[in-house]
Amino acid sequence: MSSLSFETTRRVYCEPGASARLGSLAGELGITRVMLVTDPGVMKLGLPQAGLDSLKAAGIAVSIYDRTEADPPEKLVHEAVAAAKDFKADGVIGFGGGSSMDIAKLVAFLPRTSQQLSEVYGVGNAKGSRMPLIQVPTTAGTGSEVTGIAIITTGEAEKKGVVSPLLLPDIALLDADLTLGLPRAVTAATGVDAMVHAIEAYTTKHKKNPMSDALAREALRLLSGNIRHVCSETGAKDRKARSDMLLGAMLAGMAFANAPVAAVHALAYPVGGHFHVPHGLSNALMLPHVLRFNLAVDTAAAQYAELAPVLLPGKSFNSAAAGAGALLAELESIIDDVKLEKQLRQVGISHNHLPMLAKDAMNQQRLLVNNPREVGYDDALKIYEQAL
Ligand SMILES: NC(=O)c1ccc[n+]([C@@H]2O[C@H](COP(=O)([O-])OP(=O)(O)OC[C@H]3O[C@@H](n4cnc5c(N)ncnc54)[C@H](O)[C@@H]3O)[C@@H](O)[C@H]2O)c1
Ligand SMILES: [Fe+2]
Repeated sequence: MSSLSFETTRRVYCEPGASARLGSLAGELGITRVMLVTDPGVMKLGLPQAGLDSLKAAGIAVSIYDRTEADPPEKLVHEAVAAAKDFKADGVIGFGGGSSMDIAKLVAFLPRTSQQLSEVYGVGNAKGSRMPLIQVPTTAGTGSEVTGIAIITTGEAEKKGVVSPLLLPDIALLDADLTLGLPRAVTAATGVDAMVHAIEAYTTKHKKNPMSDALAREALRLLSGNIRHVCSETGAKDRKARSDMLLGAMLAGMAFANAPVAAVHALAYPVGGHFHVPHGLSNALMLPHVLRFNLAVDTAAAQYAELAPVLLPGKSFNSAAAGAGALLAELESIIDDVKLEKQLRQVGISHNHLPMLAKDAMNQQRLLVNNPREVGYDDALKIYEQAL
């Protein structure tokens, strides 16, 4: 490593019940009129209630945008931004999974700039300032509360990212109480997404750095140590385990925001985009196959081997190949134990679809350049065939 730059969310609170502090924290940021961005599922469960009560008690006016959809399309961003402008919001709260938090970032930014959404896709294209922004994740997955990244679906199925330090939230509020009722399938998919963030950050080609490495290792320790438990009936309501999952997902977010993700995400995006497969599940479907592909590169195999004892404490391996193989086997065993689908065919994908997926994956050069092994169209096609 010759140089290092690292950016993250400035303030983090991790405590069960922490969402009841929203009012006082928003007040500290000078917010008087806040737009809370969430989705209909989270709203129906009443999860924002304690936060809304605290905002009311702090004398902060609230408008709720609750039409977020998974893998949010551009039209929802435009709709939410218009609502924030109408309401004359001077602050934004993202309250939900990655989809709500990603919209919230753009709602905090777009009303304060003359730039259009279409101009700011890509890395470092957003300019100007944004409103104060607090993020309250209700899934332990994306880490969006600590990344300057918003992922939006453009056109029919393509995912594009706005990547800018401007989008980094001011405060991340991790409240495990909000995740106690998270269904097993969402817990499993979002938890594996977070693990993929940590693994891809650790093996990223250009910006690997000691801070992201340390965060990725601790994230993986927390996530792999708790994911089976929180996906079980007895563990689902375990506050400590849920809190550790939130913390793990956030640490993984801090890692990959500074050491970006690669081919697992690049190949997962077309799967999610075309077949409406949840983001975490599409990552889980691609993970073992991309890792197996990357093993041909010695540095990647060595890095996977370094991660093996993090997931398998107390075990040692007498070669990089053995360690990397053990990591791969453990990840497959986790995916199996948390009952996620393991084959593309189980989510409605057939052989005819694979060339389209491989072609679309090639559009994700922003991510592919970070992969330890170069991925061309033919490679992508082969990886999808193995995942079928
Ligand atoms: N910004 C980033 O850095 C980043 C990183 C990875 C992924 N993403 C994006 O984030 C999105 C995925 O986010 P996600 O996986 O968190 O899912 P999500 O936000 O799409 O939510 C998935 C579902 O879970 C439900 N849900 C959320 N919290 C719940 C709770 N506590 N209890 C019960 N149900 C709950 C929601 O209602 C929704 O139906 C994708 O668009 C993906 O591309 C962004
Ligand atoms: Fe992800």
